[in-house]
Amino acid sequence: MIDFHNHVLPNLDDGSKSMQQTLSMLKTASEQGITDIICTVHYQHPKMGEKEINFEIVNQCIENVQNEMQGININLHPGAEVFYLPNLTEIKSDLITVFGHGKYMLIEFLPYQLPINYDEELFKLSLSGTTPIIAHPERYKPIQDNIDIVVKLINSGCLIQIDAGSLIGHFGKKCKNTSEILLKRNMVHFIGSDAHNDLKRNFCLKDAMLLCENIMGRKSEKLVKENPLKLIKGEKILPFEIQESNAKNLFQKILNRMI
Ligand SMILES: [Fe+2]
Repeated sequence: MIDFHNHVLPNLDDGSKSMQQTLSMLKTASEQGITDIICTVHYQHPKMGEKEINFEIVNQCIENVQNEMQGININLHPGAEVFYLPNLTEIKSDLITVFGHGKYMLIEFLPYQLPINYDEELFKLSLSGTTPIIAHPERYKPIQDNIDIVVKLINSGCLIQIDAGSLIGHFGKKCKNTSEILLKRNMVHFIGSDAHNDLKRNFCLKDAMLLCENIMGRKSEKLVKENPLKLIKGEKILPFEIQESNAKNLFQKILNRMI
């Protein structure tokens, strides 16, 4: 499996605090059946302050970790989780902000409010040739309250990544329910551990995939194999056809009976 979304690299963001912790996390990842990790270091997140992140810094860190990974057989790939600011088309020239030779960007938002005109900025990014991937929408309050926001995002060209921990229940009932609805309606394209440490927020793809398989069947494999592989290579990822909501289906059935 390929893990797309984590903070396993040491001392670059609020993730792993040391090389020792990173190695412990990688050991867990390996036990979970993860063969490739796409490292997504926080980029321009307000909580990171002035800390500089760029392609050279992340690659140097990956090289340092790889030199210490005795007996752990995992490939590490550089990347970032970009905090949303209305500057996405400007920062994509910084290679660390994009995947697959500029084809994809992982973007996160604050949990309680979506910024004004964010959809226009995402559309501008799409038009520039970079597909926005929305990080863990199931953790955003406006989306928990209105899942149609995700339908609109997908229809305007975005892809969706959910956190494995949301599905397992690490972030509470609302997150779990929302992630299940997104999966049931074929609105998820990647699952990532969003691992931050070797304690409560570690790699957990294996456990999440068991739950995911119950919901989506064998199609779930695409979320941790085919799609992230295409992302690394910069190949086109086709979204699934979105399922209508149960309420809408029921309304349609009643309407069909009436006419
Ligand atoms: Fe993250």
